[in-house]
Amino acid sequence: MPTRSFAIWNNKGGVGKSTIAFHLASRQAEQKTKLNVLVIDLCPQSNSSMMLLGGGNKGENQVLNFCTRATPKTVVGYLSQVISGGPGAPLPNSKEFIIKVNKYNKSMPDNLFLLCGDGNLEPMAPAINLAASAPALTPASNPWLWIHQIFRNLVASLPKDRDWMVFIDTNPSFSIYTELAVSGADNLIVPVNADDSSRVATNAMFVLLHGTTPPHPVYGAWTYAERAKLSKLSVPKVHIIIGNRLTQYAGAAVAYKALSDATADTLFAAYTAHPSYFTKSIKPVKTIADFRDEYSVLLRDFNTAGVVSAHLGRPISSMKQGYYKVHGTDVKVSADQVREALKAIDSALARL
Ligand SMILES: Nc1ncnc2c1ncn2[C@@H]1O[C@H](COP(=O)(O)OP(=O)(O)O)[C@@H](O)[C@H]1O
Ligand SMILES: [Mg+2]
Repeated sequence: MPTRSFAIWNNKGGVGKSTIAFHLASRQAEQKTKLNVLVIDLCPQSNSSMMLLGGGNKGENQVLNFCTRATPKTVVGYLSQVISGGPGAPLPNSKEFIIKVNKYNKSMPDNLFLLCGDGNLEPMAPAINLAASAPALTPASNPWLWIHQIFRNLVASLPKDRDWMVFIDTNPSFSIYTELAVSGADNLIVPVNADDSSRVATNAMFVLLHGTTPPHPVYGAWTYAERAKLSKLSVPKVHIIIGNRLTQYAGAAVAYKALSDATADTLFAAYTAHPSYFTKSIKPVKTIADFRDEYSVLLRDFNTAGVVSAHLGRPISSMKQGYYKVHGTDVKVSADQVREALKAIDSALARL
């Protein structure tokens, strides 16, 4: 099977991107032991890296340890090396930057890898922008394309002795590092909540990725969407929309619908106008019900089990019924909650 890559993105914060990255990646690695799973954390907040590296203070300190090295063992270290090498240089040795998670967090499977997040992505952003906007000095050179393909090239260069599944965690804002993150993946996983802002953000996502028709007379020419078209950069397609924790807002009555009606309407309209923005459907999609079946999945609230597992940086399957310490407080996790959370993650994974 060729390498499959998924960026987890919505142009809105707090919808569950990092939590979903953590649970999907750790569970996928645990279930498919012949597969290598890689998380590339392109959010400066580095939440998924912290969870993978042991959660809580332990995860935070480990991320800091990687970020503060002279050559950071992080996305920033990797980007710095590629950019300072210039467009023609061989790619850095990815082994120097990609971490085997299990070396730092024993509860994780040994086929799970991480290119760690780094808060210095934020101060580094102007340097990445500068490199991407450098003038092309020869007819064949395209600095914008070269910079935007950095993670796509990294994914393509992963050792071929095993199949890989890559999850890219992102920041909600469409900053340069988010542009690089989405450009690194073939597929998009889009978490949404039940609220209106989440629906509006999915519309913004299509505009940011594909532009408007016609393009804006002033800004249109320098958007990511227009430049990607000009440079023939491939833009990822929406593979699945995850209705995350909808029960929290909407109650049990709609718990079995992955998307609120308003969100489903909006996304189905986008699909009808531009089916090519989505991955190819398995079954024909004619109605909004077909669309819901094909492109959306419900991820129920993980309850305490999911939150404690993320805080402790442990795969959810390793949680037993009992009390766990979270910031000094004993928190109760029940076997039922673990089972339910695991079922929810597995049903999302089955759709990838
Ligand atoms: N399915 C879920 N069940 C319970 N809590 C969740 C779930 N998804 C996300 N959360 C919680 O919501 C908050 C925001 O999630 P996070 O993954 O950090 O969002 P994002 O990365 O999109 O900003 C976190 O406190 C996380 O624990
Ligand atoms: Mg996040």
